[in-house]
Amino acid sequence: MGDDLKILIVNNDPTIRETLRDLLEPRGFHVRTAGDGIEALRCFDQAALDLVFTGLHMPRMGGMELLNRLKQRYPEVFVVLLTGNGTTELALKETSQAAFDYVLKPLDQKGLFALIDRVAEHKRFWKKSIYPHEDRRRTYRFENIIGKAPQMLDIFHRIQDVASADIPVLVTGESGTGKELVASAIHYTSTRKGGPYIKLNCASLPDGLIESELFGHEKGSFTTAVAQKKGRFELANGGTLFLDEIGEMPFQMQAKLLRVLDDGNFERVGGTKTLHSDVRIICATNKDIYQVVKERRIREDLFYRINAASIHLPPLRERGDDILLLTNYFVYVYAQKNNKNIKGLSKESYEIFMSYGWPGNVRELSNVVEQAVVFSKGSEITPDRLPEYMKKDFQPKKFVLHLYSRSLPLAESTLIRKVLDETNWNLKQAAKELEIARGTLYSKIKKYNIKRTSP
Ligand SMILES: Nc1ncnc2c1ncn2[C@@H]1O[C@H](COP(=O)(O)OP(=O)(O)OP(=O)(O)O)[C@@H](O)[C@H]1O
Ligand SMILES: [Mg+2]
Repeated sequence: MGDDLKILIVNNDPTIRETLRDLLEPRGFHVRTAGDGIEALRCFDQAALDLVFTGLHMPRMGGMELLNRLKQRYPEVFVVLLTGNGTTELALKETSQAAFDYVLKPLDQKGLFALIDRVAEHKRFWKKSIYPHEDRRRTYRFENIIGKAPQMLDIFHRIQDVASADIPVLVTGESGTGKELVASAIHYTSTRKGGPYIKLNCASLPDGLIESELFGHEKGSFTTAVAQKKGRFELANGGTLFLDEIGEMPFQMQAKLLRVLDDGNFERVGGTKTLHSDVRIICATNKDIYQVVKERRIREDLFYRINAASIHLPPLRERGDDILLLTNYFVYVYAQKNNKNIKGLSKESYEIFMSYGWPGNVRELSNVVEQAVVFSKGSEITPDRLPEYMKKDFQPKKFVLHLYSRSLPLAESTLIRKVLDETNWNLKQAAKELEIARGTLYSKIKKYNIKRTSP
């Protein structure tokens, strides 16, 4: 064990600090301790840390304030709330304001080690820091894909699994979610990485040209074919071919594609010789592929052939703190490029970023950050540098439920509590918003012992 994990324990109770230290150090973890939030932040000024266990109530700066500061400045760090046994109720109430990655009782050893395992596992995927001269920050990335959300960790695993399997892979997800990045990560972690990586966007070509792009043509096979040309299948021999927007592949081409996928054989346009190519294909689409199949725009047999394995990228809005992780990364990249000294988002911008829906996903985030960086004068990105449409629907206290704690009861009770607060305990209205019967709501309030805090 050990894995070089750097852990910070923040608590004003020295017994808790030392108990945890005694538990962790013998297992090879680097442990630091702090008595409150202020001391904790100071530790971050000195070294990169991976995991923070913090209590809630401490002199000077408590756990909530520490969490908020860390999330804004170091979204790459995992923050775990240690609740004392009786204060769980209070802890749950406060987690509805901002999200801890996990909530744990200090003496729950099994939970503690399971959690550390998870963070260590994530760390296995880290490449060298993308922040070359700054060791205080790290970023989670696998190849060029940045991510810390649990769904992204699953995707990193999946990429490794399919990379070694040498089967066709279908990558799906909304526009801008990183499908192309995933395709190249598969190629570059597979045994074919020494071979060529060739791409073709099926939507960008007129129907007549796609066949010659895929399979090549012989000289004189059509009027503009002034010389022999190799197609993508031939060029990708020994490597990987990425077919983007496969849902746009003309129907009459699909039978030919199926054939080459079956046995690797094809002919150039206007050619008679059968050629052979050893290619692994990866396809991508931002369409609902089942709908495309249903509408018969893609042959069912072809669909099953290309979908031997699949990877689905979640929209950015479902990735919680990854929004901040990516934001910090893009701020860093564009500040370097434009020679600016910008550290990150201001508090108001941070709230706008976390509640905005990001329909264009990571691509949109990258564009928004680039523009803001170019036009910013100070050291932070303030809301006046953000496009109007992002601010239009923004309500400062809009609730974002982060589902990082994997506890369903915690997620459920947090949501119920929040909706009750927002509806001023109007049970009828709250039940409607929660889409449950009023009786069900009532029994859940009792089950979780939810109490009204303000009149
Ligand atoms: N997790 C990520 N980490 C870093 N950069 C990312 C990530 N996801 C996407 N990007 C960047 O966002 C942009 C869009 O990604 P990409 O082209 O892979 O999206 P896509 O899913 O193929 O979109 P489309 O369906 O529109 O083709 C690229 O510049 C890419 O580098
Ligand atoms: Mg793409």
